[in-house]
Amino acid sequence: MSGPTCEPDRVIADLLALEQATGGRGEGSRRIAWGEEWRKARALLGEALAGLPVETRQDAAGNLWTVLPGERPEALILGSHLDSVPAGGWLDGALGVFAGAEALRSFARCGTPPVTIGLVDWADEEGARFGAPLFGSSAACGHGQGEALRGRRDVGQAEAAEVLAANGVELAGLAAAAELPVRGRAYLELHIEQGPRLESLGVPVAAVTGTVGFSRATVTLRGRAAHAGTTPLDARADALVAAARLILALREQAEAFGGVATVGTIEVPAGAINTVPAEVVLALDQRHGDPEALARMVTPARDFVAAGIDVSWREISSRSPVAFDESLTEIVARACREECGTAVRLESGALHDATEMATRMPTSMVFVPSRAGLSHNPLEDTDPEDLRAGVRTLCHAAWAAAAAI
Ligand code: GLV
Ligand code: MN
Ligand code: MN
Repeated sequence: MSGPTCEPDRVIADLLALEQATGGRGEGSRRIAWGEEWRKARALLGEALAGLPVETRQDAAGNLWTVLPGERPEALILGSHLDSVPAGGWLDGALGVFAGAEALRSFARCGTPPVTIGLVDWADEEGARFGAPLFGSSAACGHGQGEALRGRRDVGQAEAAEVLAANGVELAGLAAAAELPVRGRAYLELHIEQGPRLESLGVPVAAVTGTVGFSRATVTLRGRAAHAGTTPLDARADALVAAARLILALREQAEAFGGVATVGTIEVPAGAINTVPAEVVLALDQRHGDPEALARMVTPARDFVAAGIDVSWREISSRSPVAFDESLTEIVARACREECGTAVRLESGALHDATEMATRMPTSMVFVPSRAGLSHNPLEDTDPEDLRAGVRTLCHAAWAAAAAI
């Protein structure tokens, strides 16, 4: 359906240019949300769309929309994110944005599409800088996380509200992003799997059935600063030792529940090599496909007790598991089968902007394999044949979805 006009090699060329400009394999991507290289990535996206009869605008949450008007205002939305984690991979998010651009171009090459096509680069999907993931897409779905970010600082101590304001985004104004610039009726996203399952199955593409639930929180442990040389071990209130116990307990418990738990950062403010740590702040990410199991995993983190230590747990962001729309996932599975002869379905362990969009409209995703299951790593990669298959499958599913709206 889309085949004749879909040019996957153009997408690979765009991604290689992005990698060249903003880091990728080797040193890692540097497209941290709201920063200079993220803006540079957006400028490259603009170049990839130059000359098309589209309108472009940034919404109140910093999402960058490109709209190709169709014969009807009802819209198919394609998207993903250009931001990356620090030292991230070249494909995470960027593949879906540039493949979405190719799908949009494939519609434009055929004249006015039957329905409007929206392409969106969601702002700050990773939440790597200020903790709250799916920042732009959650605002677009009416779950803006302005309050969660208020007062938060990045590792360089820059305050979220100021950084966002410098990018034209006011924390108090996020609600306006829920007024989408198009009348969205379906959302599709292509992404790398970021895990090992597709590679082990030996298939080039898969249809995604939904995403697991997650909870992100900070845990602050306060003990008592003391001299490292003179304070007997049994007289210490060492916040870092308590934090270490908590980290190991959460990992064991995640194993027992069949979920995952990660402490991605540990801060010891005012720490010194010869001072017993008085305060530790952990950033905790817990995930599970079953909401009840997830709730049971969160409880021990929230209620953790350690002798002589004051513990406080503060949620940054959470979502229940989300199931994608069955009919749209069937359209994606059919596109997988017709382009690649296989129609594997799987649930995503990573978060995606699709997680949010599924709360607002029929949503589904296409996955391609990740070499060695690696992502959030400069070595992240996908076989070029699989990248081509993924782009073709997205274009195919997009044309089929546009015809079904
Ligand atoms: C985003 O990549 C996430 O799953 O945290
Ligand atoms: Mn991603
Ligand atoms: Mn990511």
